[in-house]
Amino acid sequence: MKKLILGVTGGIAAYKAAELARVFVRAGTEVQAVMTPAAAEFIAPLTLQTLTNRPAFIEMYTERTSEKIRHIELLDDADLMLIAPATANTIGKMACGFADNLLTTLYLAADCPVVVVPSMNVNMFKHTAVRENIDKLISRGCFVMDPDEGELACGVYGSGRMPDPLDIYNYAVAALKPKDYKGISVTVTAGPTREALDPVRYLSNPSTGLMGYALARALKERGADVTLISGPTNLVPPAGVKTISVNTADEMYEAVLSSYQQSKIVFKAAAVSDFKPAEKAVNKVKKDDAGCQLNLERNRDILLELGRQKGDHILVGFAAETEEAVENAYDKLIRKNLDLIVVNNLNEPGAGFAVPTNRVSILGSSGEKEELPLMEKEQLAHYILDRTLSLIK
Ligand code: CTP
Repeated sequence: MKKLILGVTGGIAAYKAAELARVFVRAGTEVQAVMTPAAAEFIAPLTLQTLTNRPAFIEMYTERTSEKIRHIELLDDADLMLIAPATANTIGKMACGFADNLLTTLYLAADCPVVVVPSMNVNMFKHTAVRENIDKLISRGCFVMDPDEGELACGVYGSGRMPDPLDIYNYAVAALKPKDYKGISVTVTAGPTREALDPVRYLSNPSTGLMGYALARALKERGADVTLISGPTNLVPPAGVKTISVNTADEMYEAVLSSYQQSKIVFKAAAVSDFKPAEKAVNKVKKDDAGCQLNLERNRDILLELGRQKGDHILVGFAAETEEAVENAYDKLIRKNLDLIVVNNLNEPGAGFAVPTNRVSILGSSGEKEELPLMEKEQLAHYILDRTLSLIK
């Protein structure tokens, strides 16, 4: 996001707008703060001015120019208008089309997406007048973020708290994404699986789940109904995504197969263990000077089974290879009846497990190959979604 209009209104949560501005500035966004006169009672314009490196505007008319039109120019090239916190008063004025201060005037003139973050006392938030005003804004295309529940400044517990600045940032970024996956059910698998040897040891791999979680988040942002089937990771599942936690390849097999029928697309980003111990010891195995022999048996190949029952599903596989990456991946694409396979060579810098970036090639079922540059997994996730959507269209 290049340019944001950050509208701040006069509620106690206005002090959080300072941190919110910083989150956007840190992400490289130019932030233009616009405050209502009441907001300036709660937080000094100088604070926002200093954090954003630009004047924070309050007044519609300045003494020198008296030119309202100049302030409307603040909207030029704005990607998004974010009003946080938004009081019941400002929401009411927006719903009714009032233009009695600079912020409400800019709202009426804005042709970019608008995100509103209501923040107020719980009873005010529940009041029919406020609910109806919020519904009006939603019906006109505004994105309205639900407030958090918690202890409110007035001392009571309830819904009305302004969410964390980082959550607002993520919500705002998502609001700008096209909703081109709306109505499409998608299953994503992520992370490693663990195959227990005894109660304290297991076979696994270094997958952290970053790629799968990035896909799930990107899908949610683009309007999909997402089921995330995840092996053990340290990641927080994206909000609004149905998450099923599994440990073993067998558990993942069962979970994926049960969600298959209602899923149009499956992204199989999990690093599934190919083998499991033939027996799991009931008690901790003690060391023995004679050494140790492990008997392994094959796990079922989940993707192979999905490919067998393919019908009109779209299947996207992932392969991490250390040699002849493209040849090996293409072989998997054919063998497992996939539409696309995303392959990376683990020997390349910045690619593979536990790093936020990846460098991949995407192979298609007619032999086409696209080599992508090194990029963040979040960005790659959106690229993979673009490519997959082109198969449906
Ligand atoms: N996969 C799966 N079930 C398995 C093994 C792999 O669904 N038991 C899926 C992975 O999620 C991935 C794709 O198959 O999308 C390729 O995984 P990979 O481990 O690279 O392939 P394998 O077929 O196991 O081949 P190999 O380990 O011999 O390279």
